[in-house]
Amino acid sequence: MFTFKSKRKKEVKKLAKIPSHIAIIMDGNGRWAKKRMKPRVFGHKAGMDALQDVTIGASDLGVKVLTVYAFSTENWTRPKDEVAFIMRLPVEFFEKYVPELHKNNVRITVIGEREKLPAPTLEALERAMDLTKHNSGLILNFALNYGGRAEITQAVKLIAQDVLDARFNPGDITEDLLANYLMTHQLPYLYRDPDLIIRTSGEKRLSNFLPWQAAYSEFYFTDTLWPDFDREALRLAVEEFNRRNRRFGGV
Ligand code: FPP
Repeated sequence: MFTFKSKRKKEVKKLAKIPSHIAIIMDGNGRWAKKRMKPRVFGHKAGMDALQDVTIGASDLGVKVLTVYAFSTENWTRPKDEVAFIMRLPVEFFEKYVPELHKNNVRITVIGEREKLPAPTLEALERAMDLTKHNSGLILNFALNYGGRAEITQAVKLIAQDVLDARFNPGDITEDLLANYLMTHQLPYLYRDPDLIIRTSGEKRLSNFLPWQAAYSEFYFTDTLWPDFDREALRLAVEEFNRRNRRFGGV
């Protein structure tokens, strides 16, 4: 797991720009399993191994935040058994994988509507967040039962209520204020928006993932299916990011 550590300094030197916040749509687990004549959930299990490797790789590169799309508000429409299996993943993840992440100073956070998660899933998440809350390294931010439009809708409701409560006037609403009502407000201020969004498996859509925060993100699409994605693949994405010229609307 740590074979890359000794090379870490050299790698960072070669890559002039390390994205502070990388967000990943971990797609292709089902197809990966199908190719192996296995049930879809087999792919989700392999996806956890990929996530662990990529998280350690991101941490070694000096990435500050890694947000991963683990379950969207739309994923509830999947077969009941598959949903139940995905909901159990955090329990396994936090038992089997979190200890190593904790040793690597990784902090775990979650965005998404937590109230609708089954109690054991929520408990596992809370345990992991509590265990790692003082860690100062990479933030591994799970988007679980997350939907971007729902996030913005919720923000608008809260802002409307605050206007009704005379906390501020409609004219005081700025982009910065709105961003404070989004779920990503819990991330360090400078790293709330992803610099780089990766989607695996050949699909080229955002699928309701961080639509507000993605306004100036660079996109990286790869045909690699998520379980085959690893820290080397992450490095290739960061190398590509280094070749991009981000202008943020300027010249
Ligand atoms: C998309 O692939 C993947 C998911 C909906 C689940 C992702 C979850 C993991 C990688 C595990 C994450 C770990 C935790 C702790 C939650 P797909 O099923 O849509 O694949 P397909 O497009 O090939 O069908």
